Amino acid sequence: MTQTAHGVEFNQQLSATPKSAEERAAILANPGFGNYFTDHTAVVDYSVNEQGEGGWHTARVEAYGPISLDPSAAVLHYGQEIFEGLKAYRHADGSIWTFRPEANAARLNKSARRLALPELPEEYFLGAIRELVQADKEWVPAGEGEALYLRPFMIATEAFLGVRAAREVSFRVIASPAGNYFGGELKPVSIWISREYARAGRGGTGAAKCGGNYAASLIAQQEAEANGCKQVLFLDHFNDDAVEELGGMNVFFVMKDGSLVTPALSGTILEGVTRMSVMQVAKDMGREVTERKITLDEWRDGVASGEITEVFACGTAAVITPIGVLKDTTEFIGSADAAAGETTMAIREQLLGIQTGTAPDTHGWLTRLA
Ligand code: COI
Repeated sequence: MTQTAHGVEFNQQLSATPKSAEERAAILANPGFGNYFTDHTAVVDYSVNEQGEGGWHTARVEAYGPISLDPSAAVLHYGQEIFEGLKAYRHADGSIWTFRPEANAARLNKSARRLALPELPEEYFLGAIRELVQADKEWVPAGEGEALYLRPFMIATEAFLGVRAAREVSFRVIASPAGNYFGGELKPVSIWISREYARAGRGGTGAAKCGGNYAASLIAQQEAEANGCKQVLFLDHFNDDAVEELGGMNVFFVMKDGSLVTPALSGTILEGVTRMSVMQVAKDMGREVTERKITLDEWRDGVASGEITEVFACGTAAVITPIGVLKDTTEFIGSADAAAGETTMAIREQLLGIQTGTAPDTHGWLTRLA
């Protein structure tokens, strides 16, 4: 049993069969994204009775492995699930840090409210991340552009087929060593315009990080991949084809005058932690940043006239990835052999510098984990 700095006790039931140092080294040599998982998982369970009495309990770190769920568990039928994504970075002195975890904890609770799941006290969120990373600290890669991707998630585990908010829930964190989300070297990606499918609608769950949003994006993502694109762009078809976001990332435009524009949060867009950090980093560099509606027409015309000089995607997994081409059967915006833009790369370098400890953390964004 260990007491975390946040005051929550996590019972340690460490794995009897962790990967050997050789197996781990082979994985860390080329982790890719989301392929491999560490030896442990952090878990906190929740249960309340009909009167709502009870709460979070049984915080623990245990061996990574399959979850035993009743086949009638609510998550399997009604999709009551939310998740987060953040990373642990190894600094040059070997210490391990994470980036703005309080923002992820707050967003998890915002998602929880929307999906009628219980809010998780921040100390459990931070404690679970710290305890897991401490148990699996050898898994945090040290290579350039690499980190340990942390995936907190919450699922409704109650065995009950009536449609109501579950009274039994599990919060878990798993960890996966990660390199470039898109694989290989960083280079501009091509994006496919989804004309038929929307990711989210007014009053829906677009601003929540729930699995259902990603499930709804997959058919469009398949269409993108069939057309040689890495990601799909969702538009608000009811609002002048306003740009919303990609399947799993926010979008930024660099304008000719050096300012940045990103779609305003409209209730259907996820408020990315990387998105808000990019805005701050750009402001720190003296750039103007505007959150506003930006339409597909403006994207096309802006690139043609030179008003828009660079476009990039951002997210925890993708960090900052330049967008080279936006297309569908009728559009081709950008250039297939475009190089990564200078501003895009400067913001990427500054953000990664803060995260990996080579640039000063002037906003106090880093939390030491080990
Ligand atoms: C992230 O960037 O962390 C995401 O959640 C995007 C995607 C991998 C689902």
